[in-house]
Amino acid sequence: MAFINENYLKLQAGYLFPEIGRRVNEFIAANPDKKVIKMGIGDVTQPLVPSVVKAFHEGVEEMAKGNTFKGYGPEQGYGFLRDAIAKNSYHDRGVDISADDIFISDGSKCDTGNIQEIFGHENKIAICDPVYPVYADTTVMAGKTGVCQPNGYYDGIIYMPCTAENHFIPELPTKTPDLIFLCFPNNPTGTVATKEELKKWVDYAIKNNAIILYDAAYEAFITDENIPHSIYEIEGAKTVAIEFRSFSKTAGFTGTRCAFTVIPKELMAFDKAGNAHEVKKLWNRRHTTKFNGVSYPVQKAAAAIFSEEGKKEVQAVIDYYMENAKIMKASLAAAGYEVFGGVNAPYIWVKTKNGLKSWKFFDKLLNEANVVGTPGSGFGPAGEGYFRFSAFADRENVLEAMERIKSLSPTLS
Ligand code: MLT
Repeated sequence: MAFINENYLKLQAGYLFPEIGRRVNEFIAANPDKKVIKMGIGDVTQPLVPSVVKAFHEGVEEMAKGNTFKGYGPEQGYGFLRDAIAKNSYHDRGVDISADDIFISDGSKCDTGNIQEIFGHENKIAICDPVYPVYADTTVMAGKTGVCQPNGYYDGIIYMPCTAENHFIPELPTKTPDLIFLCFPNNPTGTVATKEELKKWVDYAIKNNAIILYDAAYEAFITDENIPHSIYEIEGAKTVAIEFRSFSKTAGFTGTRCAFTVIPKELMAFDKAGNAHEVKKLWNRRHTTKFNGVSYPVQKAAAAIFSEEGKKEVQAVIDYYMENAKIMKASLAAAGYEVFGGVNAPYIWVKTKNGLKSWKFFDKLLNEANVVGTPGSGFGPAGEGYFRFSAFADRENVLEAMERIKSLSPTLS
């Protein structure tokens, strides 16, 4: 008899975005004449920029010729991409990260989930509420929690509520965690953390021998120059933090797949006897055993975003999305909603009117305005009564969706 991993039975409903997709497809099947505008999952709509496409083609051409063909590449990623990341994403910002501490992968979703595997079951995990659902779901899958309570919280997870009252910035937890997931710019609330706030977390992690799992997938959308792009801008962070970054939203790679994780060699975790071990070595062991690297043309395409042309082209696309965010924020506020985020992040976090539940708002919006967003409660119990709109959309759709919401707003409460 084959036995299942029973931790999967603890999971509540399906994963958020497929569930949204299911409801939307059902609606479209029943209403084929309606034009549905999707601002739910944060999936990019603008094509890859010319520099990236050119490099991608060149990579494919190389694979097509005997003298330049490549088989397996280094599991950790090609040196040219790791060097380009170290220089452009870190050194040029005054942050000392070694290319050797950078691991190229096929996505931050995979990395933030897979990282659980190299840490023991006894670790207590702290997670913001609301937050990107992958952290909680993969903690459950990894067997680090008890069951889910009727209030939506899993036993064993330390939840850190992020509410309007604390400006969606978590307070230091009262129970001491071993692993702390932080995500800034935040998905879903669009909040960012200042240097002072991040320093508080780094100091806390140092004091408690904890590790911060820092998801910076949206750092490219930061517009305020005082906001840190990397946790390594904080002194001491190399001894307590792993950073996840992605080309998905930064450069339109959601369908192309490329991301990276930084694990400084200074970062240590402990065995039960109290001996320190380099976390990087464990991740390297996992990576080389379970992963054969991102394809060569994709890595070549990713490296192209660091060329002078590539940088300008990618920035223009980011500006386009952030202009969407500005339009959405202003329109939703004009329609009487309390609105957060959207300045340093591509997500707008909206409080529903009159305490309408998130999924109720989702259904109303879909049925009456034919617009799709993401229910706040899907990101955690404290997201109930909120709703997330993604600025990754074509401008004409943004304008049309906002018009529809504006004219419907009196009935959407
Ligand atoms: C989101 O909408 O939260 C993201 O697209 C999900 C992801 O990046 O996996």
